[in-house]
Amino acid sequence: KRCAVLISGRGSNMEALVQAAKAPDYPAEIVLVISDKPEAKGLDTARDHGIPARAISRAPYPSKRAHEKAIQEALDEHEVDIVCLAGFMRLLSGEFLEPWAGRIINIHPSLLPRHKGLDTHARAIETGDTVHGCSVHHVTAGMDEGPVIMQAQVPVLPDDTPDTLAARVLTEEHRIYPLALAELAEELAD
Ligand code: GRF
Repeated sequence: KRCAVLISGRGSNMEALVQAAKAPDYPAEIVLVISDKPEAKGLDTARDHGIPARAISRAPYPSKRAHEKAIQEALDEHEVDIVCLAGFMRLLSGEFLEPWAGRIINIHPSLLPRHKGLDTHARAIETGDTVHGCSVHHVTAGMDEGPVIMQAQVPVLPDDTPDTLAARVLTEEHRIYPLALAELAEELAD
């Protein structure tokens, strides 16, 4: 299955997918990386791996819908089967998502349905959670709402800061996102 990764920044989850997909028996290949931020570090990382990487900013388009159509065109050009969101900081419309139903997934740094949205690590600490983690889920029009595919847990330690906790969670993100993509690609291959 041909997979595109949508990012807005660092792209470490994107790189984890790229690394995993290098294994000869991995059921998906990463054929395109798109960022809505031209300055995203992840674009350079993707190019270093020899993967086509495109910046498609929102600014030059007259509407959200026009921006999404430009993204859709890039996905069509590269004959993409599966879309992985990885730190992509935009909500996609129902219209964009409809043709991708069941073929677009996201990684979120919390144990959904807990802590949807931003600042999940600070919120886990503030709430006094003793367990935190990350989730790969299907993307639907509601933010961080779609059915969960895979989760990993980490402990919240007494002296954690949002940064130390984020780092512990990120290690698990890099482990489970490739597993979840492989599972989906295999399902879709049947
Ligand atoms: C990750 O924690 C991801 O779960 C969240 O944003 C962060 C992106 O990091 N949605 P990276 O760009 O993959 O390094």
